[in-house]
Formats: sequence, C-alpha cells, structure tokens
Amino acid sequence: GRGLVIAIDGPSGSGKSTVARTVAADISASYLDTGAMYRALTWSLLHRRIDVTDHARVASHARECALDIDTAPYAPRFAVGGVDVTQQIRGVDVTSAVSEVAANPEVRSVLIASQRHLIAQARESGKGMVAEGRDITTVVAPDADVRILITASAEERERRRRAEAGEASAASMARRDARDSQVNDFITPSEGVTLIDTTQMTLPEVVNAVLALIDERV
Ligand code: C5P
Repeated sequence: GRGLVIAIDGPSGSGKSTVARTVAADISASYLDTGAMYRALTWSLLHRRIDVTDHARVASHARECALDIDTAPYAPRFAVGGVDVTQQIRGVDVTSAVSEVAANPEVRSVLIASQRHLIAQARESGKGMVAEGRDITTVVAPDADVRILITASAEERERRRRAEAGEASAASMARRDARDSQVNDFITPSEGVTLIDTTQMTLPEVVNAVLALIDERV
C-alpha cells in the first residue's frame, strides 16, 4: 500500500469503479466507494419513509445514521445500523432517489467528513487507499498523491451503460449524470488532475496507465 492516496473521479460508464478496485487490489491498498455511502444513506431514508426532498430532516438523519463502510477492494459490504444493505443499495428505488439526497449540502458535508476520516486512517496505517466518486480529486482529497479523472466519449459511455445495465437503466444513468454534474464538475479535470480518456482503451490498459502514474509518484 505504501500509504498512498489515489483519488479517482468520473461519470457513469467511464469504468472508474472497476479500475479503482483493480488498482487498489494490485497495490494492496484499501478501496473507498463514496457512491455506496450516498446510496446507503438513501436506503436508510427510504426505509424510514423520510421524504428525500425534506432537506432539514434528511440532514438530521445523515448526522445520526450509523453507516458501516467496508473498504475491501473485492465484494465490499455495506451496513446501516447493523443491517446489511449491500444488495439493496443497488436497487432501482435507491438509484432513482440518490441524486436528490446527494444534492443536499448538509448531507455532503457529513459524508465528506467521514470520507476524509477513512482516507486519513488508511494513510496513517501505511495501507493507503484508492477513493472513487465525483468530487474526490476536487473536494474530498485535493491533496491526494495521485488525482485522476477517468472519462470516455458520450457514445462509448452510453454503450457501456447499456451493456452494464440494459436499455432503460442506461437512460436513467444518463439523467443521473446530468443531475450530479450540477453539483460537481466531473467532466473537466481541475488543475493537477490527470485526464484518462478510456474511449479507445481496454481495462488492463487503463489499469496500467493508473499504475504508471502511481509509480511516478514513488
Ligand atoms: O457512483 P455511484 O453511481 O454509485 O454514485 C451514486 C450517487 O451518489 C451518484 O449518482 C451521486 O448522486 C452520488 N455521489 C456523489 N458524490 C460522490 C459519489 C457519489 O454525489 N463522490
């Protein structure tokens, strides 16, 4: 792990999750799926029948909700208040409500604080971490050792979304990206962030490109 922190952002269909997990496993670092944190909180709100547009109630639940976030690169488990929700957080109910929850600034500040804490722990333990999301390179860990924005052309992302999730889900993923990009810009790399356009690349090529950037840092 070498205690390094690797920040990876990108839209859906970019392949960033697969790349982040593979790189984390390769360098024996922890892996942080920040999207899963927004999803687990959203599951908890829906489970308690809290209106996700009620920003004050949502924020107060975010502060008291006990999210249990696994940082293993393969098959990480997620729990809320001791209940395993690993499967449930990928369901359509959570997926269609998560952007609304993630647009709440108080929710973001609670989850960002917890993400920074997990990253700091991984750094201090010497294991290091690959953290993935929409705002990791810019907001959560702008001081990361390596910062990468993974993208692909709109057509290629659409093709990958369709292959991954089917026709109907591909359209809703595109809408979610449009909505999420009003909160954070994860299409244009900010200063010091390396853009990897994966349109013409295979997964092993992208992983090697990321590993090469990490090696430059050591
Ligand atoms: O990456 P994933 O699709 O699982 O993320 C689920 C949702 O969580 C996104 O659509 C976005 O609304 C939110 N999210 C976020 N910031 C992050 C990661 C995810 O707002 N860093």
